[in-house]
This record gives sequence, structure tokens and C-alpha cells, in this order.
Amino acid sequence: MVRSAGMLKLLCITLLATYLPLVFAENAKILRATVESTLVDASTVASIEKLAGKKVSAPNKNLPLKLLASVETGKNQTFTDVLVDTGSGILWVGGQKRYKPGRFSKRLGDFAISYAVGFASGPAYTDRVKIGDAIVKSQIIGAANHTEGNNIVLSVDGILGLAPSGANSGQIIGHESTPNFVESLVKEGSIDKPTFGIHISPLNPKTGKAISTGEITFGGVDEDRFTGKIVWLPTNTLDSLRWAFNVTSFSFGTLKLMDPAALTARTDCGVSGIGVPFDFLYEILAAVPGSTITGSDDWFGLAFPPNQTASTLPPLRLGLGEKNKIFELPASLYLIPKALYAPLGLTKNLTYSWIGPGGSGSFMLGQQWLQGLYSAYDMERRRIGFALPKN
Ligand SMILES: *[C@@H]1O[C@H](CO)[C@@H](O)[C@H](O)[C@H]1NC(C)=O
Ligand SMILES: *[C@@H]1O[C@H](CO)[C@@H](O)[C@H](O)[C@H]1NC(C)=O
Ligand SMILES: *[C@@H]1O[C@H](CO)[C@@H](O)[C@H](O)[C@H]1NC(C)=O
Ligand SMILES: *[C@@H]1O[C@H](CO)[C@@H](O)[C@H](O)[C@H]1NC(C)=O
Ligand SMILES: *[C@@H]1O[C@H](CO)[C@@H](O)[C@H](O)[C@H]1NC(C)=O
Repeated sequence: MVRSAGMLKLLCITLLATYLPLVFAENAKILRATVESTLVDASTVASIEKLAGKKVSAPNKNLPLKLLASVETGKNQTFTDVLVDTGSGILWVGGQKRYKPGRFSKRLGDFAISYAVGFASGPAYTDRVKIGDAIVKSQIIGAANHTEGNNIVLSVDGILGLAPSGANSGQIIGHESTPNFVESLVKEGSIDKPTFGIHISPLNPKTGKAISTGEITFGGVDEDRFTGKIVWLPTNTLDSLRWAFNVTSFSFGTLKLMDPAALTARTDCGVSGIGVPFDFLYEILAAVPGSTITGSDDWFGLAFPPNQTASTLPPLRLGLGEKNKIFELPASLYLIPKALYAPLGLTKNLTYSWIGPGGSGSFMLGQQWLQGLYSAYDMERRRIGFALPKN
């Protein structure tokens, strides 16, 4: 912004005061897409290996919660179960049914991407892609003809990667890095800023189903989805491939696990858990007698004794930013709804939580943590923001 003085400044202020609402309304081009948190039923899962007649090890009967968006592309195809993932950087489809090139498709070599838990590859195209209200005329997408790995990759129709700019280098083979969906929207003038906001619906503690519909906004944030101001944090340059930032404080009820200091964290809505550093996991374990770390094929983490409930357990408190703004995650949000015990293969008489290991010295804000936070991502200024969700 150019600094001006005197009359010019006055004029500007007058003009701003008069036109600000209008300018804002015109500038804030925000496009919306709904996202749903659902438990994917593996009995309906037909991985492309299976379609190709190959034998694959049967996935578990039910799969962890996923945050899914619907993607329209190819030959008038709709891929309904595309995982929204802030932890990876390209868009691919075709995991459950084959992508068919349509009238806007142009072949662009091949793609290959490895995840911590799997792999997808196949031809790449540029094509028209529609997600909710957002349309990109020419988006680079992968059309998977091969996937492998665990449930996360095998049970979805594709992955919408929303990692920071530059995180997808080499994944479209022969290309350094390619614009992700948000960057393409900016390039084509559909939105002004490469910013997006994510609202994830909390789960009903009784039924385990999402209470409402989640939403991604492209081009800005949705002011109706949070209260107060967004706390913006710079992202860590040493971990530029992920939305990584510093946490200021962390506690479990009165147990202060971290004095104001800096430990790293990242958001990853492509996974369901609430990841805390190993040491803290053990400290929480020690603080609640009868707790244990246990797991099933679909889940691994902290479980409390059955005499502990959402009303006896304290909240997790995460402090962010220079002012150590506290974000509270009540036990009702970090405990796994009982209705999900059977689908997740949790069979012991315990009070299971979503809390699990986040890595050494690192927090991982997965889907269940993000349902207690509104999160915002600014790809241009490389910063990430959080606010208290309005429920
Ligand atoms: C796709 O849908 C449009 C509009 O409904 C239609 O005009 C077009 O023929 C369809 N294309 C194919 C390949 O089915
Ligand atoms: C999958 O796509 C790759 C890359 O385009 C190609 O080389 C391979 O032959 C394809 N495999 C099948 C089974 O279609
Ligand atoms: C995060 O904390 C580390 C360690 O104190 C510090 O070196 C780094 O600059 C911080 N990063 C940001 C983005 O503030
Ligand atoms: C809850 O159960 C655990 C394990 O059985 C026991 O160690 C603990 O003392 C009990 N806590 C309360 C508050 O009763
Ligand atoms: C679970 O354990 C608690 C406390 O030991 C006990 O009261 C309850 O009956 C048990 N429930 C089941 C289903 O075994």
C-alpha cells in the first residue's frame, strides 16, 4: 500500500468509508464447497486393483473417519469420496472408479505420489474440475490406475491435496511443482487470494455422526463459522512442505505439559487423530490411573479406564501465538463416540480417545482436533490461522 498524506489521505478515508462495504463485497470472492466427515464403509469399497481383477488383501470392514469432498471432472464424472488433505499437494481421482477423459481433458504425462501410508500413480491430465461452487477450467489432475497402501488410500476415490505451495515437486512427473486447486483458482481469476478456510463439523457424541455439514471456502474465510479474531501464525520454513507452525503452550486440565516455549505442530485433515508429542502422551497416561495405550487395525492411541467419562476428564488446552491465545478441546470432542467403537474395532471395556502419538516433539492436528478449531490457510503469505468455531 502506498502511504499518502494530508488531503489525499483524507480523500482516501472518505472514499474508503463510502465504498468499503461495496468494495469488500466485490473483492471477497469466496467460493464454497461442502465437506463431510464420514466413516467409509469398506464393504462398498472396490479398489481399482479389485476392479482390475487383481487379488488384494481385504480392507477392514470399516475405516477411520474421513473428511470428504465431491469432485466433478472427466467425462461428466462425479467422484464423491475425495479425501481433503492439507498434508499433500496434488489432486488425483480414480481410486474407486476409473477416470474417463472428457471433452476438456488433455493428457499431460504421468503422476506418482507416495504417502506415509500408501501410493497412487497413473496418467496425468489437465481438465475442468468443479468442487462445490469452485470451477477450475484447466487443473492438473492425476487419474489413478494404481493405488496401494492401507485403508486411507485404498478406500477413497481420490485425494485433494492442499499443502503449501511447492509441496508437490516431481509428483507430476517431469514438473518441478504444479499449481494446486487453490492456486489454479487464483490463476484463472476466480478468486483473488490463495487463501482457504476449513470448518469441520463435530461428531454427535451419541451417534458418532457429524452434527452438521463441514465447509471449505476458497478465496477467504467464512466469518459466520468462527467467533473472535483469527490468530495468524507464520509457518515454519524448515518444514515448508507442510502447514507447520509453533505451539506456545499445552496442558491437560491442571497438568501443564509445556511452559510457554516452542514446539512444532502441523495440521493434517487427511488423518483423523489428535497427535501429541510422545512425552506428553505418557504424562497424560500417568496422570489418569488405569489409562493405557492400545489399538486396533484402524486406530491406535490413549484409552482411559471405564470410570472416566466426558464429564470427569479435563479439556486439552492448546496455546497459540505470541499472546498464547488458548484453544480448548473438551473431553466430549477428544473422546471417541461409543457408537464408533465397533466400527473401529475397539472391543475392550475402556473409554477410548482420539489422542495418539503426534511424533517426536511434535503435535499433529488431525480431523478430530480441527473440529474444535476453525483453520485458515494463506498460501501467499505462508501463514496459518486459527479461531474458535461457532457452533
Ligand atoms: C456432459 O454433460 C453435458 C451437459 O449436461 C452434455 O451436454 C454433454 O453431452 C455430456 N458429455 C458427455 C461426454 O456425456
Ligand atoms: C497406468 O498408467 C501408467 C502411466 O500412464 C501406464 O504406464 C500404465 O500402463 C497404466 N497401467 C494400466 C494397468 O492401465
Ligand atoms: C519456532 O520455534 C523455533 C524454536 O524456538 C524457532 O527457531 C523458529 O523460528 C520458530 N518458528 C516460527 C515460524 O516462529
Ligand atoms: C478408575 O479406575 C482405575 C482403574 O480401574 C482406578 O485405578 C482409579 O482409581 C479409578 N478412579 C476413580 C476416580 O475411581
Ligand atoms: C466396565 O468396567 C466397569 C468398571 O470396572 C464396570 O462397572 C462395567 O460393568 C464394565 N462394563 C462392561 C460392559 O463390562
